[in-house]
Amino acid sequence: MKPVKVGICGLGTVGSGTFNILKRNADRITGRLGRDVIVTQVGARRDNPACDLAGVDVTRDIFEVARNPDVDVVVELIGGYEVAKELVLMAIENGKHVVTANKALIAVHGNEIFAAAEAKGVSVAYEAAVAGGIPIIKAIREGLSANRIDHLSGIINGTGNFILTEMSQKGRDFADVLKEAQELGYAEADPTFDVEGIDAAHKLTILSSIAFGVPLQFEKAYTEGISKVTPEDVKFAEELGYRIKHLGISKLTEKGVELRVHPTLIHESQLIAKVDGVMNAVAVHGDAVGDTMYYGPGAGSEPTASAVIADLVDLARTFDAGNNARAAHLGFQADSVSDLGV
Ligand code: HSE
Repeated sequence: MKPVKVGICGLGTVGSGTFNILKRNADRITGRLGRDVIVTQVGARRDNPACDLAGVDVTRDIFEVARNPDVDVVVELIGGYEVAKELVLMAIENGKHVVTANKALIAVHGNEIFAAAEAKGVSVAYEAAVAGGIPIIKAIREGLSANRIDHLSGIINGTGNFILTEMSQKGRDFADVLKEAQELGYAEADPTFDVEGIDAAHKLTILSSIAFGVPLQFEKAYTEGISKVTPEDVKFAEELGYRIKHLGISKLTEKGVELRVHPTLIHESQLIAKVDGVMNAVAVHGDAVGDTMYYGPGAGSEPTASAVIADLVDLARTFDAGNNARAAHLGFQADSVSDLGV
């Protein structure tokens, strides 16, 4: 079978992980998919010493990747809102499928992007946008497709959970742990997105859209971060038998879907209280299945790249399967819930 030709845009934390795993595990990936996945072009402002780019077509102009006839799938890993949107819309316009890890892009511009993709008959896949390496989007969209989901909640920002854990277990200073999270490649380019809850609200918006069948409405989420949590708060909570965790919570109510992100007191006996460090966990309740929980690394180069490549493989499987398979890669499919309320 013909290979899948991939153009990677962005060679930062997730881009370099994606490039390196595709190379390292090429035989595994080909074995599972039945065709090769080859990187035909990389678009990046600068090379990354973590990647051996010998023999690779590298351009400094990311838009060249979106126009390249030798690219089937554009992998958008540059982050941010506007340039990423322009790149993705250009790729779609040129008939290319898109894989992205960009939660800000999907939460804020997803409705427009999905409509463009639908019109053009291409897919947009974004598993890596939520909870890093946990296949949470597939779990909700496919694994729980028989269910009416009435609520979901979880730790969906690795940086925030890393900071709270280090403050709790080692008494470390907030700013000092945040700096380490940046060095480890967990934090966003603008870390206020992590500590003020914006990143978690982006992810909650995406999960809720899929779980409840509603459009993406990021602006309706109540958003509060962990920047005001003090070491004293952490200590007092623990003395009372609780942990402070930063949660995203989404519930189906009579008025619509409620979305909120804020620090929460969790009793130490609860499973989610034991989720430490960069790990994420998402609990989803469905009427048929009951309580479910998904756990794994929520940030970092290779865990997030693992989800990017899962999307590439999954998407490539639909290449010969026609439109119905493609629809699964787009956004929400509206059901009876018509609005979001807070
Ligand atoms: N900054 C994000 C986090 C990266 O810490 O969860 C993964 O989305």
